[in-house]
Amino acid sequence: MSALDMNNLQNSFQQALNVSPGAVSTSPTQSFMNTIPKRLENFNSNQKALKPFSTGDIKILLLENVNQTAIDIFKNQGYQVDFYKSSLPEAELAEKIKDVHAIGIRSKTQLTEKILQQAKNLVVVGCFCIGTNQVDLAAAARLGIAVFNSPFSNSRSVAELVIAEIIILARQVGDRSIELHTGTWNKVSAKCWEVRGKTLGIIGYGHIGAQLSVLAESMGLHVIYYDIVTIMSLGTAKQVSTLDELLNNSDFVTLHVPETPETKNILSAPQFAAMKHGAYVINASRGTVVDIPALIQAMKVGKVAGAALDVYPQEPAKNGSGAFSNELNKWTSELVSLPNVLLTPHIGGSTEEAQSSIGIEVSTALSKYINEGNSTGSVNFPEVSLRALKLDQENTVRVLYIHKNVPGVLKTVNNILSDHNIEKQFSDSNGEIAYLMADISSVNQDDIKLIYDQLNETTEKIRIRLLY
Ligand SMILES: NC(=O)c1ccc[n+]([C@@H]2O[C@H](COP(=O)([O-])OP(=O)(O)OC[C@H]3O[C@@H](n4cnc5c(N)ncnc54)[C@H](O)[C@@H]3O)[C@@H](O)[C@H]2O)c1
Repeated sequence: MSALDMNNLQNSFQQALNVSPGAVSTSPTQSFMNTIPKRLENFNSNQKALKPFSTGDIKILLLENVNQTAIDIFKNQGYQVDFYKSSLPEAELAEKIKDVHAIGIRSKTQLTEKILQQAKNLVVVGCFCIGTNQVDLAAAARLGIAVFNSPFSNSRSVAELVIAEIIILARQVGDRSIELHTGTWNKVSAKCWEVRGKTLGIIGYGHIGAQLSVLAESMGLHVIYYDIVTIMSLGTAKQVSTLDELLNNSDFVTLHVPETPETKNILSAPQFAAMKHGAYVINASRGTVVDIPALIQAMKVGKVAGAALDVYPQEPAKNGSGAFSNELNKWTSELVSLPNVLLTPHIGGSTEEAQSSIGIEVSTALSKYINEGNSTGSVNFPEVSLRALKLDQENTVRVLYIHKNVPGVLKTVNNILSDHNIEKQFSDSNGEIAYLMADISSVNQDDIKLIYDQLNETTEKIRIRLLY
């Protein structure tokens, strides 16, 4: 290509990127982003905005470049937001966490018991990701700190990646691309297939499996699925009753199960043997669910014609050259040397849209917990909610009482509250802790102070918040 051609190509590429003012962008990301102000508006309904009694203004510490959608939602609530692009060194974190009411993190910040004990005002932690193993959940519960995450915001992103991989595997696009990158022209059609009319077998028909089912059918694939629970099928997909039935009949087998003792090596030598000759395997769930040495053997004998893996038993802690090696997983060099193997670094859920959705989902859950005490969806707490108070319910206080789960506490608490009009009350427990929520009407500031002081003296109390 001449220098002029190259220049023209670069210019037209640049023009395509620069949407001129007034032009309508057709980018899916842009259209998603455009919906966000509307979604934020919807979040502010007509319900009464409750204020915390005695905790002052709500301060939120956001670390690890949590998505802008979360910052917008918190600021919209009137909270004070302290935002950092990275995680903080332990000593700085211990200092900063002392006076905040909520903290938002991703996977790098370790919230150990030692750190959480410094956090005297902390009521809630938001993990703006799927995993929560960076937080000592039991210690947080013991200290009365609820933890939320976002388990399903990236389901669509994973399903879309799997759709792409189905076609790429069937057409050996990965190999052709690698060859051409290194100067080899290899125009072949042997053992390259269309996907329409083929059968996709989905193991685990949850959030991701079900989304995938719909997308796959729209491309003309037949869908069958295996799940340990009976789940209503979408479209014309069919649930099969055994894993073997799925393996015997699928051209593509894709896994969407959680990591459990039962799913460890759910695909191993006997399962590869049960597959159709020349089937393809896709795993974007958890690294432990496929027995990789057995997969390598199945590929070597042609039983499996291609595989796409996004997750691995051991994954590097950080990005970088040389991170994916035999030292990490001893079969690495054997796996990478096989034809038609697509390897991606756990990016199934990594899209701008998923990050935005995570920002909205987690910040909304945190705001609901801070403002209303609603703990629905918490990963370490009893799930308790009461319907919101109406704007005209003026002299009402909402009591949030987190306590040790031991006999007799409710009697003590109800003795305190029974001097007043309890409009509604709900309580639940989870292991060592319990959570009571009650709306008390016809109270004045002196009553609120009295209720707070009396509850504060109860020996089983972990944390009290009063909202009015
Ligand atoms: N690659 C990524 O970036 C990425 C992103 C998000 C989620 N994930 C992983 O994808 C997996 C699925 O996520 P999801 O949101 O769809 O989960 P989900 O909980 O909605 O669905 C999982 C399904 O698996 C079924 N299941 C459980 N044990 C089973 C078994 N032994 N045999 C058959 N079915 C079984 C469950 O009944 C459920 O229907 C999880 O492991 C999750 O960690 C990966």
